[in-house]
Amino acid sequence: MEQDLSRIGVSLPENLLVKFDEIITKRGYSSRSEGIRDAIRGYIRYYDWMSEVQGDRIGILSMTYDHSQRGLLSALQDIEHDFTSITRSAVHVHISHDECMEVILLHGDGKEIKSIAEKIIALKGVKNVKLTTIKPGEDL
Ligand code: NI
Repeated sequence: MEQDLSRIGVSLPENLLVKFDEIITKRGYSSRSEGIRDAIRGYIRYYDWMSEVQGDRIGILSMTYDHSQRGLLSALQDIEHDFTSITRSAVHVHISHDECMEVILLHGDGKEIKSIAEKIIALKGVKNVKLTTIKPGEDL
């Protein structure tokens, strides 16, 4: 069934829009709107997948961030200190003058792993967050 369409106005950094337009051109989308609809569907699928992360899990949470972003380092530290029971290790790499990469290795309840990932995703200045989860002992 055809859904009614709603119009929204979105403010985006110029470089994000340029990159997005490059991708939708390469992929052959007929319009920017169609690309944005697809991106939102992907975001919703990712959220749904995250919602199913529960039970005993190993998690690999990776991200990049700008360490000069005001308040970010202390906010990140506060979150990491709230999840010490599931944090096994963390690796920090200084990529350039401003950019850092961090990988946090987690083991514990999937809901907790999801929770730390969601808190970090929501921080301003954190980019490229990826969460991979593994069910220990699963032989697929
Ligand atoms: Ni660094």
